[in-house]
Amino acid sequence: MSGIQAVRGMNDLLPGERVRLWHRVESAIRELTSLYGYQEMRTPVLERTELFKRSIGEQTDIVEKEMYTFTDTGGDSLTLRPEATASCVRAGIQHGLFHNQQTRLWYMGPMFRHERPQKGRYRQFHQFGAEAFGWDGPDVDAELIIMSSQLWALLGIERITLELNSIGSPAARAEYRERLVGYFGERKAELDDDSQRRLGSNPLRILDSKNPEMKTIIEEAPQLADYLDDESKTHFDGVKERLNRAGIDFRINQRLVRGLDYYTRTVFEWTTDLLGAQSAVCGGGRYDLLVEQLGGKPTPATGYAIGLERLIELVSLQGGGEEEGATDIYLALLGETAELEGVAIAHQLRTEGYSVVANCGGGNLKKQMKRADRSGASMALIVGDDEINAGTVVIKPLRGVGTQVTVERDSIQSSISGFLVEEN
Ligand code: HAM
Repeated sequence: MSGIQAVRGMNDLLPGERVRLWHRVESAIRELTSLYGYQEMRTPVLERTELFKRSIGEQTDIVEKEMYTFTDTGGDSLTLRPEATASCVRAGIQHGLFHNQQTRLWYMGPMFRHERPQKGRYRQFHQFGAEAFGWDGPDVDAELIIMSSQLWALLGIERITLELNSIGSPAARAEYRERLVGYFGERKAELDDDSQRRLGSNPLRILDSKNPEMKTIIEEAPQLADYLDDESKTHFDGVKERLNRAGIDFRINQRLVRGLDYYTRTVFEWTTDLLGAQSAVCGGGRYDLLVEQLGGKPTPATGYAIGLERLIELVSLQGGGEEEGATDIYLALLGETAELEGVAIAHQLRTEGYSVVANCGGGNLKKQMKRADRSGASMALIVGDDEINAGTVVIKPLRGVGTQVTVERDSIQSSISGFLVEEN
């Protein structure tokens, strides 16, 4: 096909069922965040490249090969945000949000990663994220995890599993890292190219390898749990205890290390077996050092982000049901005066809170009724010049509720309610 196409891996969202699913998920998110007392914040999609290099880490896949980075005409290196935790921290420091304060934040919006596109993995995708700044205990980790699980409940999602791990303090991880380099170093010949490369830069990520040939060597590798510092162990026990009390099932996954460098202690992912290879719906964890690393005062922090395309796919597979009603009224207008007066009738109805699609572009009754059917409206209001003269309108049910009636124009509102089709 000739003509200009969308950029690969970036999707158009066309009108219809899918948009209604997005709305449903977005309103569930707003409900969730207000239930938990989180405040929305919005940051730009463009940030200085350095922000992501210093937070996500120079040796991560995201920074090494997935960022949309360019130099603007002023000579600054800018990057389309691949995630928003770094942006929240940047904004929080810039606007003094962390000064002697504890803050619960959330955000939603597009993120950009130049990954190989496939189902569930896109170059522009959307995340909803929640971040809590200023608390260092396990209570807020548990709160965030329980909050994410409540979103699944709000949306009717069941087939989703929580994987949990603690990656400890930087010191404990450094010791473990050394041990791991020793172990993999001795068996270097068995490593695939990617892992050989990671051995020098980011050996923990070897544990994340999806290559089946690497399975045995990874299984036999030393375990991070054996190197955890006591404080991290106690913290992790506190998280687990709270999840148990809240009735949240989880699986400890010692291989869960996450793909971003800023994490400390608790890390977690929610995965599902319904989405094929792109099984992670939500990922997060604690990042106690990031605020300081980016120039702020030491501020413990923890959070998560959910991939909305994956979540919405899951809702369409599992959650079912539509939230929003279709249009209430299709206003059919026959004749010159009716067309003129129709604008006022539609305006009046909308002011009263009804959704109205008014016929535009004329057409005979048959044509207009066809359009009315296609609009999905509960009823048609038919107004011709005769009705205008008589001060009446005809209400015709379109979705099987009641029979056609002619009513006084002054009493439209009281007559309409009997014809509305409730969704769900
Ligand atoms: P992440 O694991 O990189 O974490 O991304 C979180 C979620 O975003 C993933 O679980 C997935 O659902 C979705 N996602 C990631 N990449 C793509 C893609 N290319 N296409 C579609 N969906 C995708 C973060 O971004 C961290 N900032 C999470 C966090 C917040 N940690 C602490 N606070």
